[in-house]
Amino acid sequence: HNPEIDRLLQAYEWSAKFYHYLLKNTEHGKAAMDYLRSRKFSDKMIDQFQIGFAPDRWDTLLQFLERRQFDLAEMERGGLLSARSEGKGYIDRFRGRIIFPIANRAGKVVAFAGRILGEGQPKYLNSPESKLFNKSRILYNLHQSKASIRKTRQLVLFEGYGDVISAWESGVHNGVATMGTSLTENHASMIKALADEVVIAYDGDRAGQAAALKALSMLEAVDLRVKVAVIPGGMDPDEFVSQYGGERFREQIIESAVSTVKFKLIYLKKNHILLEEDGKIAYVKEALPIIASLHSSTEREVYLKEIAAELELSYESLKQDCNLLRASMQ
Ligand code: UTP
Ligand code: MN
Ligand code: MN
Ligand code: MN
Ligand code: MN
Repeated sequence: HNPEIDRLLQAYEWSAKFYHYLLKNTEHGKAAMDYLRSRKFSDKMIDQFQIGFAPDRWDTLLQFLERRQFDLAEMERGGLLSARSEGKGYIDRFRGRIIFPIANRAGKVVAFAGRILGEGQPKYLNSPESKLFNKSRILYNLHQSKASIRKTRQLVLFEGYGDVISAWESGVHNGVATMGTSLTENHASMIKALADEVVIAYDGDRAGQAAALKALSMLEAVDLRVKVAVIPGGMDPDEFVSQYGGERFREQIIESAVSTVKFKLIYLKKNHILLEEDGKIAYVKEALPIIASLHSSTEREVYLKEIAAELELSYESLKQDCNLLRASMQ
């Protein structure tokens, strides 16, 4: 039991409420509200995820915390304030940003992620790691999703805050996201304690797909069943929901998630031009080891037949090559 931690938790709780209030009820929040509306964030989701706004000023939160007698140096260590670059004193850390409160498993706010309005760098500014906040141990939205995760034994893993929120509004209530870092072993074992299956629903762009490949092996390493949701056109889940709606998102993306083998084959395929002989051969060379490592001969047959049909090759020759490879792998 640590009194500094208690004070910091209190400060985060009140600051989250304050920023949420400023977004919804003040002139300062108007542009941010317009921005959120243009991105189809509903009032209901803004409330449920306690989204807020930090005005583009130096001392909004500073004054709020001072009035409540918080120790400013402590607030700086906790990531709510920054030290002035010149001279003494403090300024608000989050300025001109949409605030996404990050809660721990118990639902206590322990950090903020602040998104810039529109374009600019960095896109998200996070609270620094602190006594309360360890990125590799926290999953965004776990406090709200854990009931559904326990019930369904399934968790959906996203890259971004907006993705979790759009999915929630679409009826996917077992979604979480990492904090802009890759999935850690810690995350994998936290997930293993709650679920049997994970659906990875990362962004459809190259970076997202590469990250999905890494995440899936972390998750398989702790014996979770893994599926991968493939989003067309390089979109992320939030963009897909905006464009096509929640029902299509559930049916065509989440419920249509593919096996990890299928995902690896789709991923590989993007690097090859399958209309050319060289491309076909190179693709098969990279695909075969993935299929050959499957223990079930039924599964191997399913994937080999798919490739045979797609590339207009004979199943027999693919099977022969696959078996040769299996023999050499033992
Ligand atoms: P993305 O760049 O995909 O952002 O990064 P996003 O979530 O789709 O955000 P919008 O839709 O443009 O608002 C995915 C996640 O990576 C982390 C954040 O957690 C973000 O949600 N990230 C990204 C950062 O921490 N810092 C950054 O500057 C960018
Ligand atoms: Mn509210
Ligand atoms: Mn991305
Ligand atoms: Mn994204
Ligand atoms: Mn996005």
